[in-house]
Amino acid sequence: MLILGIETSCDETSAAVVRDGREVLSCVTRTQTEHAKHGGVVPEIASRCHTELLPGIVRDAVEQSGVGWENVDAVAATRGPGLASSLLVGWNMARGIAMRLDKPLVAINHTEAHIHSVFLNPDAPDPLEAVPMLALVVSGGHTSFFMIPEYGDIRLVGRTVDDAAGEALDKAAKMLGLGYPGGPIIDKMSRGSVPNKRVFPEGRVRPQAETGGLDNELCVSFSGLKTALLHYLEKGGDVSPKCPAVSGKPPHPDNTAQTACDYQEAVVDALTKRCERVIRQNPGVKYLACGGGVSLNSRLRARLAELCESSNLRLLLALPKHCGDNAAMIAGLARMGRGIRPPESNNLDVLPNWAIQ
Ligand code: KG4
Ligand code: ZN
Repeated sequence: MLILGIETSCDETSAAVVRDGREVLSCVTRTQTEHAKHGGVVPEIASRCHTELLPGIVRDAVEQSGVGWENVDAVAATRGPGLASSLLVGWNMARGIAMRLDKPLVAINHTEAHIHSVFLNPDAPDPLEAVPMLALVVSGGHTSFFMIPEYGDIRLVGRTVDDAAGEALDKAAKMLGLGYPGGPIIDKMSRGSVPNKRVFPEGRVRPQAETGGLDNELCVSFSGLKTALLHYLEKGGDVSPKCPAVSGKPPHPDNTAQTACDYQEAVVDALTKRCERVIRQNPGVKYLACGGGVSLNSRLRARLAELCESSNLRLLLALPKHCGDNAAMIAGLARMGRGIRPPESNNLDVLPNWAIQ
């Protein structure tokens, strides 16, 4: 079964051909660097870039796969969640190609595809057997914890109540004057420092908070962390003279690396602790999967590995090239045929808020 996948939910334009859900024959991804100077994704720029880039990227993906259009069995595309104007470009193109080839069109949930990304790693077990599983999806737009007792049965057990983990890292990097996207920069900068956990709060969610019925102990809040960093900087925390919060004041000793490391530790600690709690509540869980751009973080990888070691779980991580948004995870998931179904709707619109409950 050969599936052509298309992904355009945010600022990556990607197309891929995947055989039987796991064998990536080609995956062509272009990360739009046009947003860097704005310090975040600008929806209008993203959709215009997708429109310009996608036709060539799809053509390249099919060509590089070596299979030829006539052998494509189905076309899959992200239908949500994501930016509406970005989703529309990929989804409409997939609809057109499926119609032209007279092949089925498969609507894919982007969050579920991030979970599937771990199975594109040849070392991973068969997805049908990798249960019960705890799956953590962490990116610039998502921070969600899912329990998967059986393949295809995905239950949301925890999430962020405000910012996503990647967003929290990106905003901190901006405050520290480090550039965008901040996650990888903070990761790299932190490597030489020993984290001091007491500097930043853990991101607890009060029992009265609005969690949509989820256990508040399994939810996380990153907005307080961001404010704590701002106060820390305003009080003259040791940071680089480039930092906007101290500009105009005499330069401090350059201790940005330590601040970045402490902040990253607070984010990683919050995520790891929630995973630990889910594992405690579900003693039969055997696998922990982690996908999304933030799963590239070296400190998060190390802490999850420690947790799995001590809890007797197997850790499943995506290959670095499949951690960020990519179409291989879209095409791969489509093959499994057991993914969550889109809500009933009479038309073929995109679903920007398509959440897994
Ligand atoms: O999955 P992704 O490519 O796009 C979204 O769906 O958001 O994730 C992008 C996010 C950004 O916030 C970026 O800062 C973060 O992933 N990221 C990292 C690392 N690499 C990317 N965060 C921490 N450490 C990294 N090494
Ligand atoms: Zn994503």
